[in-house]
Amino acid sequence: MNFKGQHILSTAQFDKEGLLEVFEEAKKMEKVLQDGGSNLLSGKILATLFFEPSTRTRFSFESAMNRLGGRVLSNADMAATSSLKKNESLEDTVKTVSQMADVIAIRHPESHSVEKTSKVSNVPVINAGDGSNQHPTQALLDVYTIWKEKGSIDGLTVGMIGDLKYGRVPHSQCDLLKHFDVKFVFVAPDALKMPNEIVEELRSAGKEVVEGENLSELIEEMDVIGMTRVQKERFESEEESLKYEGIYLLDAKIMDGAKKDAIIVHPLPRVDEISVELDSDPRAKYFDQVGNGVVVRMALLKKVLGY
Ligand code: NCD
Repeated sequence: MNFKGQHILSTAQFDKEGLLEVFEEAKKMEKVLQDGGSNLLSGKILATLFFEPSTRTRFSFESAMNRLGGRVLSNADMAATSSLKKNESLEDTVKTVSQMADVIAIRHPESHSVEKTSKVSNVPVINAGDGSNQHPTQALLDVYTIWKEKGSIDGLTVGMIGDLKYGRVPHSQCDLLKHFDVKFVFVAPDALKMPNEIVEELRSAGKEVVEGENLSELIEEMDVIGMTRVQKERFESEEESLKYEGIYLLDAKIMDGAKKDAIIVHPLPRVDEISVELDSDPRAKYFDQVGNGVVVRMALLKKVLGY
């Protein structure tokens, strides 16, 4: 896959070869980190424009750029503090920043907004989450975690549990996992099911997809237990979102029914989906994922900037 100068907007852009290329590069980045980082991207600037809250994603992009010797222009609250307050358009904002940076990571609450801005940017734009649509770098690090932990992705049964309707992370994960021989098990209440077009796309790619609501029953066959948070900010009203509060809680009792070598992943933040008692379970990989996010973003920044 050609990465140089490309926008990274959706996981649909990745073929299997491109995905494995990023993973191999990320593995090399683990070594770069052990050796204290590098100066490969010295002189390059990453701008992070975030219009939605973030802890991991923004810091992870910035850590990745810093670890490779680059520099960062950062605004964690663009909505409140940029000229958008004076009614400047998002496109003009990005056009402006693209004159000052070599690559831009954007998070925005509206689906497809990042793609729109990429059309006016002189430099690569990386989608750091656009509404309920996509979160490609998170899915890359999730699948990297699976690849690293399980040795291979073929033959696995991957569970996705929680808000599969509004969750951009499970949407992006499906695009990547469909390149492998994977069985999907989706666990969600009826109103928060995985969008039909995604399920149909997986089935037409020959994948087996099981859908249900009962986590305790369906967990038995999962090799990967992918938990997600109810995306309360994307519901029509808070009252509506409260109906699903605490809908799935993964705890030690439920994990008794899971495979001994299963892994638990979660993009975080965790709210009430995973009991803290599981943090010391060797199957819990959700904090390891954070470290994997840094090396995956190092790999991607390197490739997009053409090194
Ligand atoms: C995810 C996101 O923002 O979509 N978080 C993240 O980037 N690590 C998941 C979430 O907020 O639930």
